[in-house]
Amino acid sequence: MTSNLEDQLLALRQEGEAAIAAVETLEALEELRVNYLGKKGQLGALLRNMGKLSAEERPKFGAIANTVKEALQNSLDQQRATLESAKIQAQLEAETLDVTMPGIYRPQGRVHPLNGIIDQALDIFVGLGYTVAQGSEMETDYYNFEALNTPPDHPARDMQDTFYLPDGNLLRTHTSSVQIRYMEKEEPPIRIVAPGRVYRRDDVDATHSAVFHQIELLAVDEGLTFTDLKGTVKVFLQAMFGDLPIRFRASYFPFTEPSAEVDLQWNGRWLEVMGCGMVDPNVLKSVGYDPEIYTGFAAGFGVERFAMVLHQIDDIRRLYNSDLRFLRQF
Ligand code: DAH
Repeated sequence: MTSNLEDQLLALRQEGEAAIAAVETLEALEELRVNYLGKKGQLGALLRNMGKLSAEERPKFGAIANTVKEALQNSLDQQRATLESAKIQAQLEAETLDVTMPGIYRPQGRVHPLNGIIDQALDIFVGLGYTVAQGSEMETDYYNFEALNTPPDHPARDMQDTFYLPDGNLLRTHTSSVQIRYMEKEEPPIRIVAPGRVYRRDDVDATHSAVFHQIELLAVDEGLTFTDLKGTVKVFLQAMFGDLPIRFRASYFPFTEPSAEVDLQWNGRWLEVMGCGMVDPNVLKSVGYDPEIYTGFAAGFGVERFAMVLHQIDDIRRLYNSDLRFLRQF
């Protein structure tokens, strides 16, 4: 009787250990545990037969049963550890990030060279206490010419070939119109810088475009003199171009008196970079300022011109063509 039950115990151990070693999932392992060691499991069933044994046989059988139980539990624990680490390993492999993969290319945008110049110039003037102002690109004859001391029969109108619109309005030929717009709404002291697009009926070539950009400068206050204008222009040009020689050359604009053009010595040559002057008293009168109390200075320059000089661009049309090979260089 004993040996029969003992054989069954040992057979159970062998069979169990083999089954446990062969199992491949944690779920199947749990099923085996229940099957062998669970309350209604095979080992329990054998132990229930202990009652049939004699009092001397029982302790020996009990001891063997314990060994079998421990052996099976050991196998279960071992196999569980093996399966769990395999599972973690598989998960790690599935989640591996291959940093040598090429990745997705996202082209990076850049600031257009014209916007770069505008940003730079505005930064400098804002640093000097100026406010950024803007006007509209479609203007009336009054704001573009008349209020700027340029009546209809004025010969200076020939300086700028104008796009007239069918309704009698026009596309502004310069940002100087913003001066009038701003002064009409505000009282001195005034310090503004006005960037914007302007239009001229020019034939397009390497140095001309029918649409281009200007930046306008206007200061009106009590006691402003030509010295203030010179100092401001000098500080600005040095911040833009570096410490280069500049000169003021007498010139003419209807809206300034006296007027000047500013040249910059660039690569050994004098280069004309901007127009400027003291605001003509007639301009101040047109917005209701008393020229006996207030004086002002103004200046205007072309953004394309600055960009072409600073970046050594040979053809103005490159600035408008949106050719990425060109734009990526900035
Ligand atoms: N408006 C002029 C132009 O388009 C540039 C200019 C010259 C602006 C003198 C000014 C100035 O404010 O004072 O050519």
